[in-house]
Amino acid sequence: HPTEGNKAHGVVHFSKVEGGVRIVAKIRGLKPGKHGFHIHEYGDCSAPDGTSAGGHYNPFGMPHAGPKAEKRHVGDLGNILADAEGIGSYDLVDRVIQLRCPQAIVGRAVIVHAGEDDLVSQPTGNAGARLGCGVIGIDKE
Ligand code: CU
Ligand code: ZN
Repeated sequence: HPTEGNKAHGVVHFSKVEGGVRIVAKIRGLKPGKHGFHIHEYGDCSAPDGTSAGGHYNPFGMPHAGPKAEKRHVGDLGNILADAEGIGSYDLVDRVIQLRCPQAIVGRAVIVHAGEDDLVSQPTGNAGARLGCGVIGIDKE
């Protein structure tokens, strides 16, 4: 769902597959280009700017990085790339996040940002404002 004054909206599916969790996202209402894409700590999108979702989900006190990095926040999914129509697509199997304990993401939030995650700046990748926020729940099979 969009945060106040923004238009980002869409669906992110997480499913257990061999080797990890597959993340498939389609998010509309973005500017073309890369947008930081993370799992944030709390499943609370109630603040108009999405800050109620807290920081990146980071249960092991690691530095911020990209999804392929050895040391990263559990929530670091890198960027979602939006096409000329502003439709962002993401499809990746991640080996770090888990649907259930101990690195459970259910009950937390997924956030898409206004800017690109540079995968280096601490602690957020300098990805800017939060355009959309969604609480991760449990779907029908
Ligand atoms: Cu984020
Ligand atoms: Zn991070």
